[in-house]
Amino acid sequence: MDAKLRIQELIQIINQANHDYHTKDQPTITDFEYDKLLHELIDLETKYPNYKQTDSPSEKIGGVVLDGFQKVTHAVPMMSLSNVFNNEELDAFDERIRKVVQNYSYVTELKIDGLAVSLTYKNGEFLRAATRGNGVVGEDVTSNVKTIKSLPLRLTEPIDIEVRGEIYMPHKSFKKLNEERLSLDEPLFANPRNAAAGTIRQLDAKVVASRNLDIFLYTIVDASKYVNSQMEVLAYLQKLGFKVNLNYHHVKDMDLLKSKINEYDLLRKKLSYDTDGVVIKVNEFSLLNMIGYTSKFPKWATAYKFQAEQVETILKDITFQIGRTGVVTPVAELEPVLVSGSTVSRATLHNEDYILTKDIRIGDYVIVHKAGEIIPEVLNVVLEKRKNQTPFEMRSDCPVCLFPLIRKPGEADHYCSNPDCPGKNINQLIHFSSRVAMDIDTLGERVVEIFHELGYLNNIPDIYKLHQFKDELKEIPGFGDKKVDKLMEAINNSKNQTLDKLLFGLGIKHVGAKVAKTLVKYYSTMDELMHANYEDLLEINEIGEMIAQSIVTYFSNPTNRDLINDLKSLGLNMVFEKESVLEHAFNGKTIVLTGKLNIFSRDQASDIIEKLGGKVSSSVSAKTDLLVAGEDAGSKLKKANELGIKVIDEEEFKVMIDGLY
Ligand code: IVH
Repeated sequence: MDAKLRIQELIQIINQANHDYHTKDQPTITDFEYDKLLHELIDLETKYPNYKQTDSPSEKIGGVVLDGFQKVTHAVPMMSLSNVFNNEELDAFDERIRKVVQNYSYVTELKIDGLAVSLTYKNGEFLRAATRGNGVVGEDVTSNVKTIKSLPLRLTEPIDIEVRGEIYMPHKSFKKLNEERLSLDEPLFANPRNAAAGTIRQLDAKVVASRNLDIFLYTIVDASKYVNSQMEVLAYLQKLGFKVNLNYHHVKDMDLLKSKINEYDLLRKKLSYDTDGVVIKVNEFSLLNMIGYTSKFPKWATAYKFQAEQVETILKDITFQIGRTGVVTPVAELEPVLVSGSTVSRATLHNEDYILTKDIRIGDYVIVHKAGEIIPEVLNVVLEKRKNQTPFEMRSDCPVCLFPLIRKPGEADHYCSNPDCPGKNINQLIHFSSRVAMDIDTLGERVVEIFHELGYLNNIPDIYKLHQFKDELKEIPGFGDKKVDKLMEAINNSKNQTLDKLLFGLGIKHVGAKVAKTLVKYYSTMDELMHANYEDLLEINEIGEMIAQSIVTYFSNPTNRDLINDLKSLGLNMVFEKESVLEHAFNGKTIVLTGKLNIFSRDQASDIIEKLGGKVSSSVSAKTDLLVAGEDAGSKLKKANELGIKVIDEEEFKVMIDGLY
C-alpha cells in the first residue's frame, strides 16, 4: 500500500482507539495491537516526514523543549466562580437569580480540582492551548497539552472553536509520581492539583507525556453561536470528540438540587480524580445576560464547595525520631483515625517552629490530613476543646544517645551533636544497604537492627568487615549457613556498585539519587568530587546553591573523609565508568544548549554531549566552548556572539554526532 494512504489509515485507526480508550473508557483494541500500530506509524513518518499530519497520535509523545512560555491574551477573559459552602448560601444564590428571571433550570457538574485551560481549534484542528493565568493573560502550553491522550487533535467537524476545561492528574498518576519522587529524595507534590499545575509548566514535553495528565471540557467560548443551553454544550462537546465528565444533571428545583449535591459528596470519594465541589450553572443561555456578571465571575453560576478530607483526633503524645542525617523530628502520636482511606496513628510535626507557630500541645484535639495523599500531617489545633494542656518544649538531648541537640542559625531542624550517634548510624546503615542505594538485598532493616544490637554493625565500613564474624553470625537464631553465605556474597558484590549509588548511599544532605547520577557525569571519581569547589559545582545545570554547599561541607569534614578512605581501602569502587568516551570534538568541551530544538529533546542532546565527553552548562561564559542554538535563540546567542564563541545550529549538531547516535 502507498505510504501516504497507510499513514492516513493508521492515524485514523489509532486516533479512534485513543478516543475509545481515553475518552469513552471503552477500549476496542489491545495494548499490544495499539503499540504495534503506533510503531508502524512512527516508522513511516520517520521515513516520509512530508506525509506527517498535524493530528498524528505520534504528536502526543512529546519532544518539544522550550526555554520559557509565550504569553497569550485571552480573547474572552477566563472568569472564576463565586463559592457557597452550605444550603443557606445556596438558597441566597438562587434567590438573587429568581429576582431577575423566572423560567430557569440548573445544570450541575462536578468541580474538577485541576487547572483551567482554553483550547483553540481552527478548521477542526487543534491549534493552541493556554493556561488561565490571571484570567486575562495566560501562557501558551500547546506542546504540553498536546501530550494528553484523551485530547482530540482533530474534531469531528471542521469548525473554528475555542473550548475550556480542566486539566487534572488522576490519583493513579499522582501516586506513581509521588512514590517516584519519594524514592529519589525529591520534594513531594502536596496534592494532584499542584502536581498537574507543576507538570503543565514543564519545559520538556516528554516529562509531561510521562505523567499522564487528563482533561475534562465543560465550556465553549461564545457558546450561543453554536447551541442554546449548557446541557447542549455538554452534548456538543462530546459530539466533537472531547472528554466530558458524565456526572452532570439537569435539575429544575432546589430540593432536587440539594439532594444531588449530597449524592455528589458521596460519589466523589469513589472517583479516581479529585473534585472540590459541584458547579451549578443556569442552563438557558437566553437568560444569562439578564442575570449578568460581576467583574470577577458570572452571577448565573456558583461553586458549592465540599469539605476537604480533614479529620479530628487526639494528640496523645509527641515523640522524637532521628533520621540518617542526624535530624531529630517531632512526631505526633495520635488516637488512630481513618483519613483518606487508611488508619493514621502517627503524623509528622516537622520541627520545633511548626509546633510553636501552631501552638500544638500534648492532649489537644488536632486536625489531621494526608499531605500529598501519602504523608499524614497535623494541620492545626481545635482550640475550643483545649483544657489545661502545657505548651510544647523542644527536647534538648538526642532521643537515642542523649548527646545535646544543636540548631544551626537559619535552620529549622535540630541535629544530634554526636557524630557516632547509634540512632543516626543505624538509619544511615539501613539507607546505605537499601535497594535504591547499594542494593545489598539481604541486609534489610531488621537484619541491620539485629547486627547493630549485637555490636557487629556500628558504621558503614563495618558492613565490609562482617565477614570476619561469619562463624558467629551463623550462630544467631534465624540465620544459619545459607543465609549468611548469601549475605556475604551480596556485600562483596556491592563493592562494585556504581559510584552514583555509593554517593547516594552516603546520605549527604540534599544528594538524592538523581543528583548523585548528575554528579558522577561531571566528577567521574570520588577523589575529584571530594576536591570539587562550590563555584564549579554551581556550573552544573541541576545543582543549586543548597546542594553545592552541602557537598562541600560534607567533604570538608575530616570524619567523612576518613570514612571514604576506609571504604576505598576496603575495596569499594570509587570510579564512574563512562560508557566508552569516544575521541570526539565534544570531549572535554563545555557546551551550552539554547532555543527550541526540533530533532532532539533537551535531555537527549545533553545525554549525547555527555556521552561524548562534553559538559553541558546552562549559562554562556568565557569558559563556554560551543553554543548549540535552536530556533528563536535569544540572549544566550547574543552573548556567545559578543564573546566570540563558536555557534552551531541543530542541523550542524546532528551532523557532528551523526553515525554515533
Ligand atoms: S465553569 C465562569 N465548570 O473552577 C467560570 N469550572 O473556581 C467558568 N472548574 O476556573 C468555569 N470544574 O478551573 C466550570 N465543571 C466546571 C469546573 C470548573 C472545575 C474550575 C475552573 C474554574 C474554577 C472556578
